[in-house]
Parts: sequence; structure tokens; C-alpha cells
Amino acid sequence: AKLSTSNAHSKIILAGEHAVVYGKPAIAIPFPLKVSSTIERSRGNIIFESDIYTGFLDDMPLQLKGISNCIKQILNYLNKPISDLRIRIISSIPIGRGLGSSAAISISIVRSLFSFFGQKLTQKQLFSFVQVAENYAHGNSSGLDIMAELSEYPIWFEKRIGITYIKNQKPLYVVVADTGNSANTRVAVENVRKRYNDNPEKVQRILNKIEQITIDIKKALLKGNTDLVGRLLTYNHNELVNIGVSDKFLNKLVEKSLKAGALGAKLTGGGLGGCMIALAKDIEQAKIISNRLIKSGAYQSWYFSTNEDIVM
Ligand code: PMV
Repeated sequence: AKLSTSNAHSKIILAGEHAVVYGKPAIAIPFPLKVSSTIERSRGNIIFESDIYTGFLDDMPLQLKGISNCIKQILNYLNKPISDLRIRIISSIPIGRGLGSSAAISISIVRSLFSFFGQKLTQKQLFSFVQVAENYAHGNSSGLDIMAELSEYPIWFEKRIGITYIKNQKPLYVVVADTGNSANTRVAVENVRKRYNDNPEKVQRILNKIEQITIDIKKALLKGNTDLVGRLLTYNHNELVNIGVSDKFLNKLVEKSLKAGALGAKLTGGGLGGCMIALAKDIEQAKIISNRLIKSGAYQSWYFSTNEDIVM
């Protein structure tokens, strides 16, 4: 029987989260944790299979409504009936930890649906169908997740302006640790907004600092000055603390990384839970830091090199 499988990968934000909401730049990199989706013919109602939900497309839980809308819009666009399909999702990206799992699921579904029906898919179409799902899930998302997950390279991102690729750099050895606490991006973004309204000058100063750090990180990446990238990541973390989106456990994991010899460390994504990252000088050190973070109570941890498509 006919069957189509497509993949998508996760992302991490290297610098500029939250400031990006205020029009500042951010840098995100692909994180090769994968999700795959497979489309098959079946009879009757569309069946959706995943770790979080298996059942009819029409009965999808609230958190997956964006995805079911996206699927329906694609089928309408392709002039296909909303029936007679089985959609199976297999994902290694944890949900709700700021790793962009929802956008990655949508990307893989859009790709596999188009390929199942033998239709050509442009980047622009892919972006706008995924945006349907993301806007439903997150309200007004900046689009950073989608752009980073459509890219094989680190990206420089500005809201309403778009992206440029950051190439010609040395590989980065990145450790990612999950606090095990769900990231409350929406609350974190609202908290920053409240602080901004209470004290615009102070918050603007912090946002400007984050902007400068992000610019400096890009320069250091292009020069291959990884030590400097590391130091700047830690500065970025300190500003995220100042803006009120870190927590005790994230700070502890950042400290433990630095003690274990990391070049730098910071929370990544919305904060208030979710994940943190550390930069290592090589893959051996990345492994050591990753183990240390597990010993310090991280729920799970990965490490990878940006020039390879595997995660350890
Ligand atoms: O938690 P994540 O990885 O979706 O990142 C949120 C990033 C923010 O800048 C805080 C919000 C946004 O929409 O860009």
C-alpha cells in the first residue's frame, strides 16, 4: 500500500529570546531531535496516532486542534476529502519544553501529506500551513520556531523582517538539559510585558543589552571564536534573569555547567521551566557536562555537534 513518511527536526534558541518579541534579533539553531509522520490510506474518518493522542481527527484534544485545522486546510487546498487517511506521528522531541515540538510535528505532517498526494510543496506554502497550526496553539507566535526548524543552518531572525543563515562557522558542541518542568512561555512573555509596562526604561535597557549580546554572538560565530560565544551566552542568561524569566533550577543547571567547564550556559526558549543549554569545547566535554546535569537533577539531557545530524 502507498505510504509517505517525512521528518522534521527540533530547534533551540541560542540568543535573543523574549527580546525578539520586541523586534530585537534572535539566533536559533537546528537541534537534530526528530519527529516523523507517516500517511497511509485507510477507510472512513481520518485516524491520528501519536504518543499524546490516538483517535479520530475530529476528536483531537485542545492542544492538537491547531494541527487538525492545519490538516483540514491542506486537504481542502489539495481538493481531497477529509477522510480515508491514517496519520502516524513518532516523535523524540519532548512536548512543552520549549523545543518546538508542535511546529516540528506540523512541518512533518505538511511535508508527508503533500508527498502522499504527489504534490509539490514550496517553502512558502510549508511556512504558511505550519503557521496555521502554530497561531492556533500559541496565539501570536513570532515564527522563530518554524523558521529554525525549516533550516539546516543556524539562523538570524527578526520578526517581520525574516531570516538570514549564519554559515562558515566552526562546529558547536551543545549540551541541552530538560528541567522536567513544562515551560510556560505564555506566562513568561506576559511577565516581561508587565515589567515593561511598569518600568519601560529599565526593561528597554535590558532588551538593548540582549540585542547587543546577540549581535556579538553572531560576529563571534562568523569568526569561529567559540570561547567568546560561550561567555556571551552566559551574559545573555544573566539578562534573562534580570528580566524575570529564569528560575532557581535553571540557574542551578547553568551554574553546574560552568563548574563542569562549559564555555557558557543559559536557559533557552521561554524560560520558567523548559530547557537550558551549555556550550562545550569538544564532544568529550559535552558528554561530561551532560552527565553532570543529570546528576544535578535534570530530567533528561542530550548533546550534539552542529556539524552532525545525530543527538546523543
Ligand atoms: O519556548 P519557545 O522555544 O517557544 O520560545 C519562546 C521564545 C519567545 O521569544 C519567548 C517567544 C516568541 O514568540 O518568540
